[in-house]
Amino acid sequence: MAIISSKKQPQDPNGQPKKQSQESVKASLDQELLQPEAAIDEQGKQEESIRPQRFADYIGQKDLKDVLDIAIKAAKSRGEVLDHLLLYGPPGLGKTTMAMILASEMGVNYKITSAPALERPRDIVGLLVNLKPGDILFVDEIHRLSRMTEEILYPAMEDYRLDITIGKGSSARIRSLPLAKFTLVGATTRVGALTSPLRDRFGLVQKLRFYEVDELSKIVLRTAQLLQTPITEDGATEIARRSRGTPRIANRLLKRVRDYAEVKTSGEIDESVAAEALQLFQVDPCGLDWTDRKMLSVIIEQFNGGPVGLETIAAATGEDTQTIEEVYEPYLMQIGYLSRTPRGRTATTAAYKHLGFKPPNGQMSLL
Ligand code: ADE
Repeated sequence: MAIISSKKQPQDPNGQPKKQSQESVKASLDQELLQPEAAIDEQGKQEESIRPQRFADYIGQKDLKDVLDIAIKAAKSRGEVLDHLLLYGPPGLGKTTMAMILASEMGVNYKITSAPALERPRDIVGLLVNLKPGDILFVDEIHRLSRMTEEILYPAMEDYRLDITIGKGSSARIRSLPLAKFTLVGATTRVGALTSPLRDRFGLVQKLRFYEVDELSKIVLRTAQLLQTPITEDGATEIARRSRGTPRIANRLLKRVRDYAEVKTSGEIDESVAAEALQLFQVDPCGLDWTDRKMLSVIIEQFNGGPVGLETIAAATGEDTQTIEEVYEPYLMQIGYLSRTPRGRTATTAAYKHLGFKPPNGQMSLL
């Protein structure tokens, strides 16, 4: 199954994509509460209902929005499709959301899939031949495409052409079929793992960065309003501070804190309720969880601050090396707790201080 999700843009009478009402958001949430057995499906719907639909609702990533806004206006004014776009950065920063917003701003339909769902050549062929002019095809985890799928994509991206090999051996012939002009939006957490022929075929290559606390705080306030959850600004900031610069985590923590507030207090989330709840869920004031702390304490306690190899850290924490590299390390490096050296990972003075260890001699002056 190649398509994970797809959407045709609903239109209002002026031809503008329609906005979702707060009532329909509430309805999908109430339904979740009433039907716990459908929790996973409903959770997906709930995520959809809080996802911003237009640039105007999307908080943060200002540089990226500016670049895309220009690309959209230019493409629209020339009556062309948007250039192929590669979005990269750590998970949870809004790559899929950005692709959906692009479709909505361009007034086109989108199809969402993921490289692991495009195992066989016919998966990607089926998607490509069904695209309509201007459509956006979003391929998540694009660094995981098989070689054959990638090779089908080259002429499709470059010349909107599908090359099909008919027959085998010396009698094999290539037939070319024209495709609708479309935009491929690729997303990856590992831009370095893309082959260069694939990377070179994207006209726009853009990075999503971690969000600032004030941006996350606004996201938490927006989501709380959609969920009809009472929250103070300080409560939102406390959640934002512990969200590792990541909106997906901020929204997830908000839901857990909302549960805590409803069960243990009057229901309103303020700074102390948020701090108490997140302490209970073992999310520390910097947003570090058990695995982050374990990684750093292994480096500090067992290896004198490092350098330590990735495999060793993975074994000590029970996580796989890919998760450590793609999920944990980017944030620990961003906040200056971990550095990667050619010989392995080292804990910084700030990490020693955060975990309550005395930094090794000579590092005290940096505190
Ligand atoms: N929800 C998740 N990410 C968001 C963002 N960047 N802006 C607004 N709401 C969001």
